[in-house]
Order: sequence, then structure tokens, then C-alpha cells
Amino acid sequence: MKSQRLKGDVAVVTGAASGLDRGIALELALNGATVACMDMDDANNAETVKMITDAGGNAFAVHVNIGDTASVDAAFKEVFDKTGRLDILVNGAAVSRYTQLPECTDEEWNFVININLSGVFRCIRAAHPYFIKSGGGRIVNISSTSGRSGGTWSGAHYTAAKAGVIGLTKYCANYFCKQNIRANAICPGPADTPLTATADPKSIEKMLAAIPMGRKATPEDIAGAVMFLVSEESNYVTGITVDVTGGRYMYNN
Ligand SMILES: NC(=O)c1ccc[n+]([C@@H]2O[C@H](COP(=O)([O-])OP(=O)(O)OC[C@H]3O[C@@H](n4cnc5c(N)ncnc54)[C@H](O)[C@@H]3O)[C@@H](O)[C@H]2O)c1
Repeated sequence: MKSQRLKGDVAVVTGAASGLDRGIALELALNGATVACMDMDDANNAETVKMITDAGGNAFAVHVNIGDTASVDAAFKEVFDKTGRLDILVNGAAVSRYTQLPECTDEEWNFVININLSGVFRCIRAAHPYFIKSGGGRIVNISSTSGRSGGTWSGAHYTAAKAGVIGLTKYCANYFCKQNIRANAICPGPADTPLTATADPKSIEKMLAAIPMGRKATPEDIAGAVMFLVSEESNYVTGITVDVTGGRYMYNN
């Protein structure tokens, strides 16, 4: 365990079965939170729970398909029924498709938007009544540098969804601020996870060349920023987007 800064908090992390979100779930648990690991990949999600419990943390797995309202509503009810509270929501689950706009079908566009943007909306809507019952909440939405820069490497649907996540975050920060609910977004730089495994290696190389710190992001890099945004150190911080990119966002030469 690292600290008890989040002791007593119940956190939902979507996408916890893999990659950056697994690292975030682990970090929140190592700092005292009870973490509901939500994902549709039950086998890998069980592995995340085992990693957390082996490390001395508290976690349990909850199956969800964030593309489906009934599944999301049932998953959040399950968390609240089990723990009696909800304090933190990290919206990490997402998909990638590398089709560019001219070749993108309506079906693929709708699929990516339904998971990467509408899925975040569904989880916030489902979490909201439980935040109210718990006296407040902290939301961290995982966007992407693409949503800030208009990046083309991951396709128009991914970029549009991630830009939408930033707008949704600001809306939530404004709308919920009187309810003691904060909302912030994080834009990770490129990381080696299953999400990027099928990306064009040339576009990854190009992105890497534009990172002043000269390396990809790790789950620990992203989890550190999440920890700040869910802890009391950021009590007066809401509606911001944090670039965790090794300086890529300021790259201009
Ligand atoms: N890896 C990167 O380079 C990178 C860069 C910028 C932003 N991001 C963002 O970081 C977040 C985590 O990405 P990652 O790279 O760790 O991805 P990942 O593919 O390793 O993990 C994503 C997880 O989401 C889950 N998921 C997908 N669809 C789901 C659904 N409908 N319902 C429930 N779970 C679902 C998957 O099962 C998986 O466990 C995502 O929001 C991603 O867009 C990643």
C-alpha cells in the first residue's frame, strides 16, 4: 500500500481490465480506495482484481458494457448495493478503430461514438444519484491528445469522441459544481496498450518524435495525474483538462 489518502472512498474505474485503466485502478486501491473494476472483459478484469488484492488493496469486479444503458445502470446499482456509497468515477473504457474518414461507415462511426462518448455520458448519468447520496463526487474522464489537437492517427470518430469528452467534462463541472461534484479530464499521450496495438507504426513513430521527453506514457504516469484529480489536494480544481504527454502538447517546431 502507498497511502490511505482515499480511505473510505468507493471508486469505479471503467476499462479496468487493461492498460492505463488497470494502472489507475491499482493506484486508487493502493491509496486506500475500494475499487469497483468495471469492464466487459471478465477474465482480464478478474486478473486486475487479483493484482490489487495481492498488493493489499480492496477491489471487486463488475461486468459492464458501457455501450448499453441497462448494463450501465445495473452495474452502478450493483456497486452501490454492495458498498453503500460512490465517491469517484474514472471513465477510462474506450475502443479504437483506425479507419480514416473517407472510408468510415455509419456503422463504425456510431459504434465508436456510442462507446467512447455516449458510454461516458451513460456512466456519469448512472453515477450521479449515488454521488448525491454520498454527499458529492469526483469524476475523471480519460480523453486523448487527439481530442485536443485534431490528431488523425486514430480516425475522425475517435478524435471527435475524445473532443466531446472534454466538452462533456466542462458541462459536468459547471452543472454539478453546486452538488459538490467535480469533473476533470486527462489527455494521455501515446502508450503501449492493446488499444494502440493495431495502429499504424509510422503514425506512432511520428507521435513519439513530437514528444519532448522522448518516451511514451506509462499507466503509472496517467494514474499519478488521476490521483491528484480525485484527492483533496485538487478540491478547488474542476473543469480542467490535464495533458499527461511528456510535453507533446506544447510541441510546435
Ligand atoms: N493507449 C494510448 O496510447 C492512449 C492515448 C490516449 C488516450 N487513451 C485513452 O486511455 C483510456 C484507456 O486506454 P488503454 O490504452 O488503456 O486501452 P485498453 O484497450 O488497454 O483498455 C480499454 C478497456 O476498455 C474496455 N472496454 C472497451 N469497450 C468496453 C465496453 N463497451 N464496455 C466496457 N468496457 C469496455 C476493454 O475491455 C479494455 O479493458 C481510453 O479512454 C483511451 O482512449 C489511450
